[in-house]
Amino acid sequence: MEDPMTTATVADAKWARQVRELAREQDAVILAHNYQLPEVQDIADHTGDSLALSRIAARAEASTIVFCGVHFMAETAKILAPDKTVLIPDARAGCSLADSITAEQLREWKQQHPGAVVVSYVNTTAEVKAETDICCTSSNAVDVVRSIPADQPVLFCPDQFLGAHVKRVTGRENLHIWAGECHVHAGINGDELAARADRAPEADLFIHPECGCATSALYLAGEGAVAEERVHILSTGGMLDAARETGARSVLVATEVGMLHQLRKAAPEVDFRAVNEKASCRYMKMITPEKVLDCLRAGTDEVRVPERIAGQARTAVERMIGIGKSGGGE
Ligand code: 13P
Ligand code: SF4
Repeated sequence: MEDPMTTATVADAKWARQVRELAREQDAVILAHNYQLPEVQDIADHTGDSLALSRIAARAEASTIVFCGVHFMAETAKILAPDKTVLIPDARAGCSLADSITAEQLREWKQQHPGAVVVSYVNTTAEVKAETDICCTSSNAVDVVRSIPADQPVLFCPDQFLGAHVKRVTGRENLHIWAGECHVHAGINGDELAARADRAPEADLFIHPECGCATSALYLAGEGAVAEERVHILSTGGMLDAARETGARSVLVATEVGMLHQLRKAAPEVDFRAVNEKASCRYMKMITPEKVLDCLRAGTDEVRVPERIAGQARTAVERMIGIGKSGGGE
């Protein structure tokens, strides 16, 4: 009888070979976000966080960029590299956080705060970016806000937890925060984190600033329930850098579960555990191995951004890639 494991391995190897061959034929570079399925991450030319992948897209030499991530990421790549063909294996891969503010809502908010500088998280549509002064990602949000003169009010959108983190770190009172959230990260709550930290007193905590539990982690540290030096609020790329340096034997990870794959590769000797194993982004997981292959074969789905919108958004996105260090992109 045929061994099912061997059959699966042979199929995986065939898929990987086909993808690599097609990518070479099409002069395509494959980028994958840290939340992608492990096999998609492993086939990519580059994996990384939002900032690292934006920077790689901006300087890509290939004529086609295949973006294995969600739609706003591919759109950002197209804004930065307008002459390239940008493909996403499934254009329906959206983002609940990007959906939490529209360009119309942002225009109304700006009218209420004339003179304020608009900082939008990269998790926004191109139309929202076109209304923005500087975009940021989780790895450079603090540096972006610090780059703005202290007396100028800032409108920060759309993530309320990242906004609260930036406000806490910068101590900036004139930072107004939009009340949006990512359903995956908001669902990783403080009670869950406290219970897991209690059961693993030696573990480090790696927490993405979009998480509902980021404030709770700092509260736990403040209360002495968790040692302060064990709590790290980090972007996905920052987690990879921290993984390579941690002295801890185990780490509790509060972010989307796709992150565990890169962390385990970066530091195989460390036991990485998800704070919430159910924290899986259904949009990120829409990019399946079959769709990556179809995308390269058929040249779909192509991402287009009307030049009027792209032109208005480009300055904000270029400012973003010029500020701060990203972690973990390779
Ligand atoms: P980073 O990779 O920039 O940390 O972003 C996380 C995220 O939620 C992307 O959707
Ligand atoms: Fe958007 Fe959240 Fe999914 Fe990231 S994890 S793509 S923020 S819905």
